[in-house]
Amino acid sequence: MTIRAKRFVMGALLGALAICAVQLLVGLGGLKLGLLNVSADATPPEWEKQLAGIAVHASVARHAAPQTNPVPLTKENLDAGARIYQDACARCHGKPDKGPSIYGSSFYPPAPYLVGRPTRYTDAELFQIVKFGIRNTAMPAWKSSLSDQDIWQVVTVLRRFDHVSD
Ligand code: HEC
Repeated sequence: MTIRAKRFVMGALLGALAICAVQLLVGLGGLKLGLLNVSADATPPEWEKQLAGIAVHASVARHAAPQTNPVPLTKENLDAGARIYQDACARCHGKPDKGPSIYGSSFYPPAPYLVGRPTRYTDAELFQIVKFGIRNTAMPAWKSSLSDQDIWQVVTVLRRFDHVSD
């Protein structure tokens, strides 16, 4: 590469960096001025939804320990998981016979209606979500109130909602 060509490439790179820096400053300035509406009932911009979805999924996938569900698929475990779901989760995630929860859908991000909804998470990832929660959302970390055994039982039931009733 000639010296002239090298200078041209350097100039283009510096120009691109300067544009990125200005865009970042304008973005931060907008946030500082309060232009982003943080009300839970506002419709967020598409980029915010996309970025949050990507970040949550990638983080859960990275932090979930590589393990399989140790709880056998017995009636006792399904009944126990269904009881935990009714007591701890249904108020936000809804029930098979009652449909989605108004309370759960009033958060942002809303608590998804989990009944009969195919999940993109593995059992190990569901365990990670339930045990440690999702920061900056209404999804709590259940590790202080549910044992690992309880969490595996409720994870089992998340794929078998026919066992949850009123
Ligand atoms: C106070 C409300 C609330 C309670 C109670 C609650 N959750 Fe959540 N949960 C949420 C919210 C809000 C989200 C969405 C977080 C997000 O979009 O990043 C969520 C997300 C999840 C997800 C990820 C779903 C997906 O596919 O994106 C799972 C799985 C889950 N919760 C399971 C449970 C289980 C199991 C319980 C009971 C032990 C429970 N939750 C209790 C509010 C709640």
